[in-house]
Amino acid sequence: MTNYVKIFDTTLRDGEQSPGATMTSAEKLEVAHNLARLGVDIIEAGFPAASPDDLEAVRRIALEVGNPANAESDARVPVITGLARANKNDIDKAWEAVQGAKKPRIHTFLATSAIHMKHKLKMDPEDVVQRVAEMVSYARTLCADVEFSPEDAGRSEPEFLYVVLGEAIKAGATTLNIPDTVGYTTPDEFYALIDGIIKNTPGMHDGITVSVHCHDDLGLATANTLAGIRAGARQAEVTVNGIGERAGNTSLEEVVMTLKTRHPVFQLETGIETQQLSRISKLVSNYTGIVVQPNKAIVGSNAFAHEAGIHQDGMLKHQTTYEIMRPEDVGVSQTNLVLGKHSGRHALRNRLAEMGHSLDEVELDKAFARFKELADRKKIITDLDLEAVIADEFYRPRDVYLLNGMQVSCGTMGMPTATVRLRGPDGVIHTVAAIGTGPVDATYKAIDSIVNVPCTLLEFNIHAITEGIDALGEVTVRIQSESSATTMDPQSEMEYIRVYGGHGADSDIIVASAKAYINALNKLIIAQTEGGEKIKNDFGVMLG
Ligand code: KIV
Ligand code: ZN
Repeated sequence: MTNYVKIFDTTLRDGEQSPGATMTSAEKLEVAHNLARLGVDIIEAGFPAASPDDLEAVRRIALEVGNPANAESDARVPVITGLARANKNDIDKAWEAVQGAKKPRIHTFLATSAIHMKHKLKMDPEDVVQRVAEMVSYARTLCADVEFSPEDAGRSEPEFLYVVLGEAIKAGATTLNIPDTVGYTTPDEFYALIDGIIKNTPGMHDGITVSVHCHDDLGLATANTLAGIRAGARQAEVTVNGIGERAGNTSLEEVVMTLKTRHPVFQLETGIETQQLSRISKLVSNYTGIVVQPNKAIVGSNAFAHEAGIHQDGMLKHQTTYEIMRPEDVGVSQTNLVLGKHSGRHALRNRLAEMGHSLDEVELDKAFARFKELADRKKIITDLDLEAVIADEFYRPRDVYLLNGMQVSCGTMGMPTATVRLRGPDGVIHTVAAIGTGPVDATYKAIDSIVNVPCTLLEFNIHAITEGIDALGEVTVRIQSESSATTMDPQSEMEYIRVYGGHGADSDIIVASAKAYINALNKLIIAQTEGGEKIKNDFGVMLG
């Protein structure tokens, strides 16, 4: 058995498909490029049958990320896959979307637990077996690489799974993925399930990859995934930051860093460049508006902070006293004094390149202007500040509306008032003043009266990026509108109203708040227009 574990990333499918993690097509493409750079083996780019938009997003990823012009070797080119329910229409759509990739894969699934077969599929077990055989065979007529998943395997009868999986092998499946769809199993049970499948499935051979796909409802997703790997699975299906349905999927960074840090225990390798974990975590968090909890393993802001005095003393004596991983191994820079007011363009370019950002001249000009502006207000600029500026400047949706200026007055003496100036999609500058219960409320009211797309603010988060009174403030928001497009969950087949996230960073927290809100509104507008729906606001301005 090989000692290589393939990392199958489903951030853009199981992660994005969950309500509340919407990304625009451009953001999905950017995340896919970063996943390829990270070294994942397979990118599940979406569910093409959900809508023409979803299909197009997967197709672009297949063409661009699945066909890199300057890949070091074929081995570094990721497989691009799309999910399909076990029917011809979904499989055709998945194939249409992924066929442009150098290494395409079709991933099809059908539920096998008694509860799903009876209540969701309303199918007899014999019909399920037959459908799996037919649809895997059909997918194989289109694509040489076919993955099959028996949905809710964690609650399925093992003996029935052996039969279904045996038929999938006979029909030509190359990967058998075993999902614990509802996050129900325990590590011992999941180990036994994978072990039983490898030993008892008819036709199982070395050419078949057994894969694991766990959900985190009981907080056991990583433990279960590692148990499955110990039992012989050689593909792990994961998402960045563990985002996904309900409590989420297994987190990519936790599995990868456990295999690396405890190498003597597992003796297994992955192709992941772990120094990029922190950066991609931030990227996904900024794009989805889903904040990473501070104590999240590997990528949380406290994961490498040793603040208690006793710890710091221990740390000074020997770094390994409290650290089992080096922060730099996951891309958390320990460099503090990076650049100051007098640093030049060249120094900025070098530092950004060391951090993994290669900017062209135009981008560097923009980054330099932002850097100088920040250096006027803040003495020391750290890597974290630079990451925030890069995210704010480059990882944001196309500007439908752009903040052109703002002024806020607040305090205990009067009504908090915000005057906001936005450049609209027609190039016209709109200026509006509004009062609110506080400075953020007043600002958002002013923005609302210009943009005029009614929506609900579901979440507002603010935090300081570094220590000190001059720290940059970072704001993430999540919004939803009654007119937001819906998305279809491939498993429950329910339609959800999409939620849009926005991110902004500035040394003025009210400005950061305004930027985050405008970003989220821009995404909502772009998504609606990408969906073919042209919307006008009350001023008659065509948006998007
Ligand atoms: O959780 C699950 O069962 C899935 C399958 C579609 C693989 O996401
Ligand atoms: Zn799943």
